[in-house]
Amino acid sequence: MTNNNNVYYWDYLALDKILTAQMPESAKRHGKAVHDEMLFIVIHQAYELWFKQMLHELDSVCDALAAPRLYDDAISLVVQRLGRVVEIQKLLVQQIGILKTMTPMDFLEYRDALTPASGFQSVQFRMLEMRLGVSSKKAIDKTEFFNRLAPRHQQMLLDLQTRPCLFSLVETWLKRMPLLNSQAFCFWQAYQQAVERLLDQQAKQLQQDADLIDSIRTKQYESDRAHFAALFDENAYQQLRDNGLRRLDYQAMQAALCIYLYRDQPLFNLPYQFLSRLVEIDQLLAQWRYVHVLLVQRMIGSKIGTGGSLGYDYLKSTLDSSKVFTDLENLSTCLIPRSALPVLPEAFVSQLGFCMGTAKE
Ligand code: HEM
Repeated sequence: MTNNNNVYYWDYLALDKILTAQMPESAKRHGKAVHDEMLFIVIHQAYELWFKQMLHELDSVCDALAAPRLYDDAISLVVQRLGRVVEIQKLLVQQIGILKTMTPMDFLEYRDALTPASGFQSVQFRMLEMRLGVSSKKAIDKTEFFNRLAPRHQQMLLDLQTRPCLFSLVETWLKRMPLLNSQAFCFWQAYQQAVERLLDQQAKQLQQDADLIDSIRTKQYESDRAHFAALFDENAYQQLRDNGLRRLDYQAMQAALCIYLYRDQPLFNLPYQFLSRLVEIDQLLAQWRYVHVLLVQRMIGSKIGTGGSLGYDYLKSTLDSSKVFTDLENLSTCLIPRSALPVLPEAFVSQLGFCMGTAKE
């Protein structure tokens, strides 16, 4: 028996609404629903629910990062919530497999009835992209799809555009890391000297092994030297940013690199986990785009999408262009062996304490 004051499972989850929210277009058009359209609707609804949860987590992460100071407990929470986003994304990548049990011929049975509705109109997906920091130009580009959205959805995207994205919040957090202005230890200088020592050692080694030299090792050495020369030249770095080849501010990049190099130190472990989650999120989103584009090719070949895009070709073009934290991935190019790392002075470690914020009072 149910008591009116007690929470009731069915009502709590609003199952009356959710379980009656599958309305196949094929039933409206042909009087009888095509069997596979139910799957198509349910899977999209499941995606949208998870998108909602991801936005919920990312909103809270962005709020935490917007605070003027970020203490260990706050970073810990951010890492935990980003970890949740990662797990959801893994599920989203897997879910595509369920849809693959529908054949292209089955899809053809009802596809026409869906035009002009399309994943293009997934406002929550666009919000996720914007929250992470994928260029908002795409989201509000008038010609692409924006005009086909309902005015309330256009407004949601325009509102979101005025709020800082995760990328810019992370960049600001990195820039205010006290290590960059510490008197006890100048990371950039120490790192630069360590790199120079390492490259000199490699050059000597190459000379000693002259008879064994293979062209690949020489090429590797030359490429490393050129890479580091560009890294230590702020103007060259800025030029890469201007050309869209780098996104992270020069100082923020240095802070991120310091975290990557000293990840084994307890002090940097949590910040490292934080940055790693961001890379994971970026890579899993790229993975989703990839499995989605493969599904599209399998289902509709090179037909135009129901949203009017070039379909497969359009989606393929978003694979690389939509990544946000590529700069963090690319930091691997700048890593040096642990044995070559400058030792962190005690005074520096205690100066940093447990607060990754502006200077301590
Ligand atoms: C039979 C399965 C599917 C087909 C054939 C398909 C096809 C397409 C096509 C052709 C586009 C390009 C826009 C257009 O012209 O319509 C697109 C975009 C999109 N689809 Fe799908 N899709 C399928 C399943 C899914 C599922 C399960 C989701 C989950 C939410 C999804 C989400 C999206 C999103 C978010 C976009 C926009 C991507 C962007 O602009 O970067 N699609 N889809």
